[in-house]
Amino acid sequence: MAKVIGGITTSHIPAVGNAIAQELFEDPYWKPFFDAYPPVHEWLAEQKPDIVVNIYNDHGLGFFLDKMPTFAIGAAHEYHNEDEGWGIPAIPPMPGDAKLSWHIIEGMVEDEFDITSCQELAVDHGFTVPMQLFWPGLLDNPNLPRAIPISANTVQHPIPTLKRALDFGKSLGKALRSYPEDVKIVVLGTGGLSHQLDGERAGHINKKFDQMCMDKIVHDPEALTKISRMELVKEAGSQGTELIMWMMMRGALGDDVDVLAKNYHIPISNTGAGMLLLECKD
Ligand code: DHB
Ligand code: FE
Repeated sequence: MAKVIGGITTSHIPAVGNAIAQELFEDPYWKPFFDAYPPVHEWLAEQKPDIVVNIYNDHGLGFFLDKMPTFAIGAAHEYHNEDEGWGIPAIPPMPGDAKLSWHIIEGMVEDEFDITSCQELAVDHGFTVPMQLFWPGLLDNPNLPRAIPISANTVQHPIPTLKRALDFGKSLGKALRSYPEDVKIVVLGTGGLSHQLDGERAGHINKKFDQMCMDKIVHDPEALTKISRMELVKEAGSQGTELIMWMMMRGALGDDVDVLAKNYHIPISNTGAGMLLLECKD
């Protein structure tokens, strides 16, 4: 049977894609950010997951304001990336696993989640930057898993509640664990933490709120479901709603997890950059 071995969260700031392209790992601005990732590389090299479920939010490449699915799941054999205008070199097509995608979609629709299934899906920086952070070299990295992208709407209101996000993750975890093949699965939650890119509060970062979320999400994610969407925007900023993907990831891991690595650094670009590596207890 399939096994969910753990989850990793990370911010997906586009400037990180450019810093990777320019190899700025030792640059004083970037070092405190990049120093968070070697422990994750070691864990991934040890564990060698076959599948990565990459939960991110599309920002306008795969979907736009005219059609914005609340929850979309990729069901393609590969996923293409295109230039979004950030200047990040596009990554090559990432291999998928359409059979497992359809198993997830079947299971979650049976569980009464209304899913948009995507046999074609262009993946943006929310997906690609974390892939580059965790599997340097991508196709040249022998440990690169097959990817299943899941996008949640955090762009156009009404966005899902944090409770719905956690429940989505629980249903996703159930669907993953019911897959009969012996595959090891890691789940990513990308985005966040606090940031606001435009408007009067552009540059807003809330360290206290971010640290509370990073703390609570480990052993008491239910506590975060009490935060309303209005409160989330107020505390974390208009793009801080990307906490939704962290909650979806957390729901898929089950009750008991260990924190293997953790990092928080501000600011990276306009964002409170958080990283958590959580391992599922058997
Ligand atoms: C930034 C952060 C994001 O999450 C994003 O999608 C785009 C830009 C930033 O901090 O610059
Ligand atoms: Fe984002």
